[in-house]
Amino acid sequence: MSNRYWRIESRPEGMNFSQALKLVESPLPEPETNQIVIRNAMLSMDAGTRMWLTDRTDGYQPPLETGTAMTGLVIGEVAASKHPDFPEGTLVRAFGQWADYSLVDPVLAGAVKLDPAVKDKRAWFGPLGMNGWTALWGIEQTGAAKEGETVLVSAAAGATGILAVQIAKLLDCSAWGIAGGAEKCRYLTQEIGIDGAVDYKSGILSDQLDRIGGIDIYFDNVGGPMLDQVLTRMNHYGRVAICGLVSDYSAGTRTSPAEFDQILMRRLRVEGFFSPDFMDQGERLTSRLKEWVDSEAITMPYDVTRGLENVLTAYEKLFTGGNIGKVIVEL
Ligand SMILES: NC(=O)c1ccc[n+]([C@@H]2O[C@H](COP(=O)([O-])OP(=O)(O)OC[C@H]3O[C@@H](n4cnc5c(N)ncnc54)[C@H](OP(=O)(O)O)[C@@H]3O)[C@@H](O)[C@H]2O)c1
Repeated sequence: MSNRYWRIESRPEGMNFSQALKLVESPLPEPETNQIVIRNAMLSMDAGTRMWLTDRTDGYQPPLETGTAMTGLVIGEVAASKHPDFPEGTLVRAFGQWADYSLVDPVLAGAVKLDPAVKDKRAWFGPLGMNGWTALWGIEQTGAAKEGETVLVSAAAGATGILAVQIAKLLDCSAWGIAGGAEKCRYLTQEIGIDGAVDYKSGILSDQLDRIGGIDIYFDNVGGPMLDQVLTRMNHYGRVAICGLVSDYSAGTRTSPAEFDQILMRRLRVEGFFSPDFMDQGERLTSRLKEWVDSEAITMPYDVTRGLENVLTAYEKLFTGGNIGKVIVEL
């Protein structure tokens, strides 16, 4: 039997993923001592992985080597095991490969056993996974959101953002989102029920941001010039929780706020946060998120693509804005 995997041939320029990544065949991997092979059922598409494809060595993770398989979160059953804690048949989530089968050391890959009783397994990528933890942590811990405050989230219709705005509402804040396009903004206000949405693609961002009337917490997924526009509209003693800088990832730019002095003028706290830093609290975060998921207080739309061969179409959506909610590839 053979395996197929996406090999990194070269560093992508912008969004030319089809030139930089190639689907190739290899023999089915065999686990060595303390390794497992996962039969991937689903792949999670995450915008942050775009940075691993660059040659930057000053990011929060070293670059992936060319000639190796593309890495990402996967869900699947253990197909072969030489690790006593992960017997064959166990349902797991781990950092594996964009492949039919992932070969991993479960400890290094952050493998977690999943409760098979959860009906919609996609939730383990979204609200019950890294996006959920990140949204909750960023709003509650880094953003220190308090009842009655105004929270603004960028990339608000994406996987992390759509959870962040809902969590802000659940914590009795006024929740606003920035998203690209009228349909996303309609979705956020009418289907998700947030207080207001700003369409940054409509060309009149500043007027729309003024409508919010002062921001206490900015949960930023985007960075770039949008951050400057928000800094000048922050309330005194506001918090800017830096979750991601997606506008830089494909463009290769680096966010350098021109309005940096507003941090002093408005006495802002600006702090980055990164989900692996609080992975040890995953169980606690998941159980809180699960209560909201089970009571349908949180919803997550999924953008599902089928087939390993179609991964790049799904991946590209993260950078063109083609998705609402969590982008997943089902194999
Ligand atoms: N700190 C952490 O631990 C952590 C963990 C998970 C994710 N993140 C961050 O969270 C952010 C979202 O990631 P995700 O995986 O959940 O993806 P996602 O939000 O589902 O998809 C990315 C979204 O970003 C928006 N976008 C793309 N390019 C943009 C640009 N140039 N300007 C403005 N918006 C743009 C697009 O929506 P529009 O149509 O609105 O443009 C797109 O749908 C990323 O910055 C990622 O690095 C951080």
